[in-house]
Amino acid sequence: MCSVVGYSGPRLCRQMILEGLSRLEYRGYDSSGFACINATSKLASVKTQGGIQQLNLKIATQEMGVSISSSGENNLDGTLAIGHTRWSTHGVSTDTNAHPHFDCHKSIAVVHNGIIENFVLLKEKLQLAGHHFVSQTDTEVVAHLFEDEIKTKSLEKAVLSVVTKLQGAYALLIISEKYPDYLIAVRKSSPLCLGVADKEIFVASDVTAFTDKTDQVVFLPDESFVLISGTDYHVYNYFGERIYPPVQKNTCIWLSEGKSGYEHYMLKEIYEQKRVIIDTVNFLRGNTAAVMQQLNISPETVQDIQNIHFIGCGTSWHAGLIGEYFMQEIAQVATQSFLASEFRYKKFFSYPRTLTIIISQSGETADSLEALRLLSASKQPTVALANVASSSMVREADGFLLTQAGQEIAVASTKAFTSQIAALYIFAHWVAHSKGLITNKAIARAHEELFVAGEILENSIERYKFDIVARIAPYYAKYKNFIFLGRHISFPFALEAALKLKEIAYIFVDCYPAGELKHGPLALIDAQTPVVLFSCLDEVIYKKLYGNAQEVKARSGHLIVFAFEHQKDLIALADTVFIFPKVNPLLAPLVMTGLVQFFVYQIALLLERPIDRPRNLAKSVTVE
Ligand code: F6R
Repeated sequence: MCSVVGYSGPRLCRQMILEGLSRLEYRGYDSSGFACINATSKLASVKTQGGIQQLNLKIATQEMGVSISSSGENNLDGTLAIGHTRWSTHGVSTDTNAHPHFDCHKSIAVVHNGIIENFVLLKEKLQLAGHHFVSQTDTEVVAHLFEDEIKTKSLEKAVLSVVTKLQGAYALLIISEKYPDYLIAVRKSSPLCLGVADKEIFVASDVTAFTDKTDQVVFLPDESFVLISGTDYHVYNYFGERIYPPVQKNTCIWLSEGKSGYEHYMLKEIYEQKRVIIDTVNFLRGNTAAVMQQLNISPETVQDIQNIHFIGCGTSWHAGLIGEYFMQEIAQVATQSFLASEFRYKKFFSYPRTLTIIISQSGETADSLEALRLLSASKQPTVALANVASSSMVREADGFLLTQAGQEIAVASTKAFTSQIAALYIFAHWVAHSKGLITNKAIARAHEELFVAGEILENSIERYKFDIVARIAPYYAKYKNFIFLGRHISFPFALEAALKLKEIAYIFVDCYPAGELKHGPLALIDAQTPVVLFSCLDEVIYKKLYGNAQEVKARSGHLIVFAFEHQKDLIALADTVFIFPKVNPLLAPLVMTGLVQFFVYQIALLLERPIDRPRNLAKSVTVE
């Protein structure tokens, strides 16, 4: 979604804010803006459609031009400032809809991540009272509400009064000419944290914005606000009481290594997957005691578990669907996966002896976070399986398990998915071990199997790389529609593969469990719609899949098959085939992961898509 960054301290901070924002551009990137209280205590600002590069260009153009007054009134830098990158929710991406937004006199500036759900009503009331609006955004109401409140109230009371009127989710940063020494930060549901350095304070949606400046972090509690002046900061809850959230040491420091010579972050991250599997295994087996403490579930609880539930969105939900097979086959626990966005609004049943694992790369996805809160409120035990150690889910769940993917920058998830699968595979073995179902030797074997899977994942990209680039991707890039099929554990993998093709190549894909073909989708089969079929290593399932492949061929369908080397009959049916060595059947999806991502990446490249930042998408979805 959007990101906000603010600064209060002795230094001119425009450059720091822009740097911070560019590190958070993964959260949204269709427009950007900056506002500060400058040396003459005036509010100065700039905003534009487009990301930080366009913002820098606009600033440079403004500063070269005549618009800078000799009195310095318009000087666009200061020691108190806020910035924003946007991912549009209300109002298309234009200069006017870019943040910051202002009150009627342009003396208050507001940046916002989230959604003000009741903005239409608030806007109507404010307009009736004479306020003049210029944008289509929900955010602008905050500036106008604040304009009214600070006329008569103290700063603290004005903020409290504004928040009682707002419904929805928001991380807000506000500055004003009336209080030129104050930066106001408000949090409800959307993430917001302070970076506390010796002589300055940073505030941002994510610690990444200031990890090079300070490792001292205050995570603002939900429904709280902070008044920052110089290096002083006072935090309040929504009852107006002073609260003292702890200052924590940020141990998760990911400084971007850049693309390391790859054309896109996505390609770099595809190639990092073997390393990620090795890191995940080594981390989990080398730090077992610490990890068990973080998981915060006693061996007795594990032995007593009757159900495991996974909850996630998008790729993380797919990882949960695959994890279901691990938990059922290895640990023999009934397991179900839920889409967070559906789970939240279904009738809630509190299951006894059930552990829920919320799976999320970012640890901030709004739907997953709210599902977690729902479970916590009814005292159901929860674990966050997340990649970002400082994330809300890691802080709010009863326990956590950290995946070891490192920072994933491309919007489309690749290595985070792989690390989730590896972690879930090991977790299933731990549960099985606690229940006395397997020995230590089996856990060691699982580690070895993961190493082998990582090796195959990478080798298969190398094996088909040239063919995909030279022949296969150019051939398939011209198709407008695809059907993806899987069965048993390869069905959730087919869902994940289809999602990758949709999001980075903008190609329509319908994905089905292969057994459903004859219940409708078979009518779609023709030579114009390639069918991609992901095989399984289970012998019974393989035979069924082979039958489904025959159904496709019998209707003149075009078949692309991801198969295993002994599956000669299936291989013979395929128009295009990718062949993999045999592994543990449960790890079949993992070994296919790299190649399917590489194939999709090459199609997107040929179609000249903005691969790392697909249209309309953001890396961290902190609004519903
Ligand atoms: C797809 C993708 C998304 C995310 C989803 C959940 O490539 O990345 O589908 O998986 O938005 O995000 P997290 O895992 O951060 O909760």
